[in-house]
Formats: sequence, C-alpha cells, structure tokens
Amino acid sequence: MNANVIEKINSTNQKYLKNLLGKQIPARLEEQLNHMDWSYLDMLDQREVKRGQFAPLGAMELPEIASKKEDFKATGLDAIKNCKVGAILLAGGQGTRLGFDKAKGMYNIGVNKELYIFEQLIRNLQKVTDEAGAYVPLYVMTSDKNDADTRAFFAEHNYFGYNPDFVKFFVQEMVPAVDFDGNVLIEAEDSLAMSPNGNGGWFSSLLKAGLGEDLKAKGVEWLNVFAVDNVLQQIADPVFVGATIQSGCVSGAKVVRKCDPYERVGALCLEDGKPSIIEYYELTPEMAEATNEAGSLLYGFGVILNYLFSVEKLIEIAEKQLPLHIVEKKVPYIDENGVFVKPETPNAYKFETLILDMVYMMDNCLSFEVEREKEFAPVKNATGVDSVESARELLQKNGIEI
Ligand code: UTP
Repeated sequence: MNANVIEKINSTNQKYLKNLLGKQIPARLEEQLNHMDWSYLDMLDQREVKRGQFAPLGAMELPEIASKKEDFKATGLDAIKNCKVGAILLAGGQGTRLGFDKAKGMYNIGVNKELYIFEQLIRNLQKVTDEAGAYVPLYVMTSDKNDADTRAFFAEHNYFGYNPDFVKFFVQEMVPAVDFDGNVLIEAEDSLAMSPNGNGGWFSSLLKAGLGEDLKAKGVEWLNVFAVDNVLQQIADPVFVGATIQSGCVSGAKVVRKCDPYERVGALCLEDGKPSIIEYYELTPEMAEATNEAGSLLYGFGVILNYLFSVEKLIEIAEKQLPLHIVEKKVPYIDENGVFVKPETPNAYKFETLILDMVYMMDNCLSFEVEREKEFAPVKNATGVDSVESARELLQKNGIEI
C-alpha cells in the first residue's frame, strides 16, 4: 500500500483498517484504498452549497398546453420518428427507503399479477413508440451494485417486448461512504463501503461508457431523463418534446402543481436568472406562501425528475463540475470487531451530485405542467407517502391492471 494511504488511515479513527496495517490486505481493498479520492473527506467541512438570488419562473400551464396539444404532438412525433429523441432511465440508486435489496425496477408493484416497475416503464414508453412507429433509444444507467442483475432481468423478460437493439446499459461511478466522523466504512473484508455517486453524473458516465458515439451515430438531439421510481412516468412524451422544441429552450422540465405551499418537493424557479430548483427547506415561509394576482403560488410547481436536455448543450457543459451534496443514508458496514452491522437509521454520509444542479447549467428551461394524478406515482417508501401503496392506488385510478 502506498505511504500516503497508510498516513491517511493512521490519521483517521478507522480502527478496522488500522488493525490491517502491516498485514496482508485483500487485493481489492488495497486497490480501492490506493485509488480512492481522499479529497472527498475534506468536503465534509465545506458542505454548504452557496445559492444565488431566487425568483419565480411559473410554467406553461395545462389550459395552454391543451389548446396547442396537437401542434406540439406533431412536432414531438416528428422528432421521435427521426430518432432525434433518446431516453435515459436513471436506475443506479439504491432505494434505501424502500428497503428492497435488488434494483428498484425489479420490484413487483403488481397485486393480482406480476408487474415489475421496469415493465410498467417500458409499457409507458411503448405507448409512444407504437404511435410514432419508431423506437426511442433507451439508455439505462445502473451502478456496480445492480448492473449485472438489471441486465439479466431485462434479458430474462425479453426486454418486456422492447427492441433490445435500442436498449443500452451503462454503469455510473462509485464513491466511498463515510461515517459521521468522516471515517471510511468497510462493507466486506475485501471492500470499502462504496455508493453510487448520485444521479448528476449520468451524462459523464454515459460518455465514459462510449455511448456518445451511439448518440452521434443515431442522430439523437434530445435526451429525456427520468427516474426509475415513478410508475406513471410518461417517457418521450411527444407533447412535452414538441413544446420544448417549439419554445426554443435548451431544456424542459415536467412539473406538477404543489398540493400545499410546504409540500416536500423541489420547485422549479430562477436562480440568478438561470433555471434552477429550490428545495422545499430552502424556501422561507414568505416565499413558500407568496402568490400572484391569480392566487397561484409563485414557487408552486414541483419537479418530478423528468427532464428534456439538448444533447448539444449537454456536450458543452460536460466538463463542468457539479456541486457535491452530502446526504445521510443507511450504509451497512463491518465494525472494528469484524461484526457486520445493518443499521436501522442513517449512519453515514454519501457524496452525490444531483441532476437538478444540471438544470442550472442550462441557459433556459421550459417549465411544463402535467397532471399529477396521471403522471406522478413515485415509489420511494414501502408504506405511507410516495409508497408502494400510493403508487398502486394511482396505477388503478389510471385504469392499469395490477
Ligand atoms: P433517489 O433520490 O430517490 O435515490 O433517486 P435512491 O437511491 O433511488 O433512493 P433512496 O433515497 O436511497 O431511498 C432518484 C432517481 O435517481 C436515481 C434513482 O435510481 C432514481 O431513479 N439515482 C439515484 C441514480 O441513478 N443514481 C444514484 O446514485 C442515485
């Protein structure tokens, strides 16, 4: 092990690793330690992300969208038919809140029959591809933890009827998790506790996987990025695609009207004149409750992790560094006595970049309202708010047999 790493280990309180010093260290662990970016640990002292001046952004609202629907749709379908629209399924998360230890997309959301989350998403996409008479290239981001399972699951289920030639997988990067005192954690005798680096790194991981060439070869100009956990997710929605193209914006975001001023969702807004997302906890009560003349909340449109980005703009910002967020999560680890611990409550920090920070790098963004009941059924928890239960109810309300 290199001297710098030994010094780092000695300077922390990592007793398990200290005990290993001078002994035969498993090759994988040694490799991880030698290649680890220790500068992450310094981030713990500078966790405040500085924000600029916020202002409301509003949205293109449902009545306006309804009045221009056919026109938007024609533009969107035309782009899809010409293979200008690709879709990115963000499936690298660990779904710790759901407590399901496989990839979240492998979760069976069905009641009377099997209906996997991945399957439902593919069905949502197929509505569009059937109408367009063309496939939308689908890029699935996985992590080291679920890549093999995810690929095997798609293959076992014949890609749920989608054309496998249009499905590509790529793996996101991992970063070490640390305990609340900043000590790296060990998850197995031969491995540090590594976590996926958040959903912000998707484009750089896609490029690293060589898929930039695939985008170019196919002529993809727009990427619709979406979360695995919203089972009502409308993917490559031609109306949204068409509206964004016609708006002349380099990005678009689907938003829903907040149910109350304090709902725990990020709201699309402006920050120093650029599109941005203000988290619910960053809103002062004055901002949260502020309304316009019509009585609508000024920060009243929440994002649902469904964005459309221009590929040209993504390439332009590809080298820019996204801010690093430090989040508390439950991370299993081996304690100093060699005992494997599966914590019930958050015990560690993970370092993540977030896709919402990418929106701020866009020059502009079409804020596009959608009906919550029809398009937003996130599966975050096992029960309660945004859960398996609530998603099942919403699927049924939308006439989907489960
Ligand atoms: P969440 O923020 O809900 O995180 O992800 P999560 O890891 O899935 O779940 P919890 O917080 O541990 O319960 C939102 C979307 O971003 C993806 C997820 O798969 C989901 O589609 N994501 C998240 C990644 O692809 N990679 C990550 O590192 C984190």
